[in-house]
Amino acid sequence: MTSTHAIAPARADHLDAVAALLAAAALPTGGVAAQFPHDYVVATRDGAVVGAAGLEIHGDAGVLRSVVVDPGERGRGLGQALSADRVAAARARGLAAVYLLTTTAADFYLRLGFAPCARADVPAAVAGSIEFASVCPASAACLRLDLREAPADPLRPFGEVPVSQTGGSDD
Ligand SMILES: CC(C)(COP(=O)(O)OP(=O)(O)OC[C@H]1O[C@@H](n2cnc3c(N)ncnc32)[C@H](O)[C@@H]1OP(=O)(O)O)[C@@H](O)C(=O)NCCC(=O)NCCS
Repeated sequence: MTSTHAIAPARADHLDAVAALLAAAALPTGGVAAQFPHDYVVATRDGAVVGAAGLEIHGDAGVLRSVVVDPGERGRGLGQALSADRVAAARARGLAAVYLLTTTAADFYLRLGFAPCARADVPAAVAGSIEFASVCPASAACLRLDLREAPADPLRPFGEVPVSQTGGSDD
């Protein structure tokens, strides 16, 4: 059977599935419910939630958080597509930059065009967000994507990201 992946705005009834994905990946869930569903998108496979990503807005900056893909669905481009969707939303809102903290995926975001950023250089509004102020450890890597600069490589970060439509046990 051929399965179909989609990236779509989150709905309120997706919250439990997203929280379960985050918990299974040992990602923080603090503050997610307060921002859900309006700041989130989900990846679905045949209607089931298999991934998520959130973009919180703080002043003229965004915080990309809660990017997660079900382990059985990884490696098909969903993580990049979810991240690209949230960066596109940040561009559409006219934000200056997107920040993130990660203990697990710094190399994933460096490959997508983010650059290391000293935590001391993060805008105050972002530093005061729940992700930065309380839920992520101080040892987490801080990364920044400047949206006021043209992408260094237009073929690479955050253009159209193909998502494999096949794979998994029921294909
Ligand atoms: C990080 C994550 C979202 C990537 O999702 P995905 O759907 O597998 O990603 P994609 O299919 O778009 O990209 C796959 C590529 O990214 C690389 N990649 C995946 N996770 C990575 C990680 N944690 N660190 C570095 N590279 C990673 C893969 O090796 C692969 O590289 P290749 O194209 O050279 O083979 C997923 O692994 C995940 O949910 N991890 C747990 C939660 C997490 O760490 N979230 C990010 C921090 S908020």
